[in-house]
Amino acid sequence: MAGSIERIYITGVKGMLGKAIVPIFRERFHIFPENLEEIDIRTPDRVIDDICKCDPDYVLHLAAMTDVDRCEIEPDEAYKINALGTRHVALACQRADAVMVYINTGSVYNGKKTSPYTEYDPPDPISVYGRSKYAGELIVKELLSRYFVFYTCWMFGGGPLDKKFVAKIIDLAGEKNELRIVDDKFGSPTYTVDFARAVFEFLDGGLYGRYHCVNKGSASRFEVAQAILEYAGFDRCSIVPVPSAEFNLPAPRPDNESMRNYNFELLGFDLMRDWREALEEYVKGTFL
Ligand SMILES: NC(=O)c1ccc[n+]([C@@H]2O[C@H](COP(=O)([O-])OP(=O)(O)OC[C@H]3O[C@@H](n4cnc5c(N)ncnc54)[C@H](OP(=O)(O)O)[C@@H]3O)[C@@H](O)[C@H]2O)c1
Repeated sequence: MAGSIERIYITGVKGMLGKAIVPIFRERFHIFPENLEEIDIRTPDRVIDDICKCDPDYVLHLAAMTDVDRCEIEPDEAYKINALGTRHVALACQRADAVMVYINTGSVYNGKKTSPYTEYDPPDPISVYGRSKYAGELIVKELLSRYFVFYTCWMFGGGPLDKKFVAKIIDLAGEKNELRIVDDKFGSPTYTVDFARAVFEFLDGGLYGRYHCVNKGSASRFEVAQAILEYAGFDRCSIVPVPSAEFNLPAPRPDNESMRNYNFELLGFDLMRDWREALEEYVKGTFL
């Protein structure tokens, strides 16, 4: 739509990724819902009405049940939100003739690969979260022909409102002399702002399909925690590497969910920097 401002509807806009997406997407898009109030994606009529009346060019579907342990304990709720909720959003896209953007996770892989996953490795999720998110992707593919699926992993961001891994490590390091952090699970730590910027840049080309979109490199949780404390300047708290078996968590985590942005590479796009550089910028810009 050259010359006119494009319209984008965002679900889950108040979540960690939504907070990074909104300021970046405002550069080019009129964002809906205008009041940034979430609608419950479990209610099909409401979702379809609300989205269609905004007449969006794109729908960016971020809303999800993201607590992997809660998904394992409440699988019906996980499928209601991550699979059926996605179906409602996809049906609205069908009716509004909008391009759908779905976000998926490295948790759809079984974790047995010993190098980073590419888009050509088959999903084989081992948790309810992974299975319900993969079910959402299959629904998008079944109902729509114009969609993007972006896979990402171990996101950090949120700034002063951060309640996730980075903020938890910094809070705990302020309270304790020693932290015990898992060193046998690997992922690709990814800054929400870098992810949002890359998606923003890439959408324009109309190259629909499935893409990994992570900061470069892979790391264990232990290595990420070490880097956080280094960038935050904590030297009084030591970090001890421990096996994941030490924590008896409800949901299984893949041993490896690190990814490579292989489709971007093949197309000649270099949109993501190294995870350490991104993490350093985030930690120093937020916590110092
Ligand atoms: N964070 C990661 O490391 C990561 C990695 C890979 C993929 N992803 C995917 O990226 C997307 C965004 O994740 P995020 O980290 O921003 O998650 P988040 O912070 O948990 O945000 C998810 C948002 O969805 C909302 N939501 C939950 N149930 C809903 C429902 N029934 N109806 C409407 N909204 C609902 C939540 O609202 P409430 O807070 O009120 O429940 C929250 O605002 C998700 O699709 C997630 O699966 C995330």
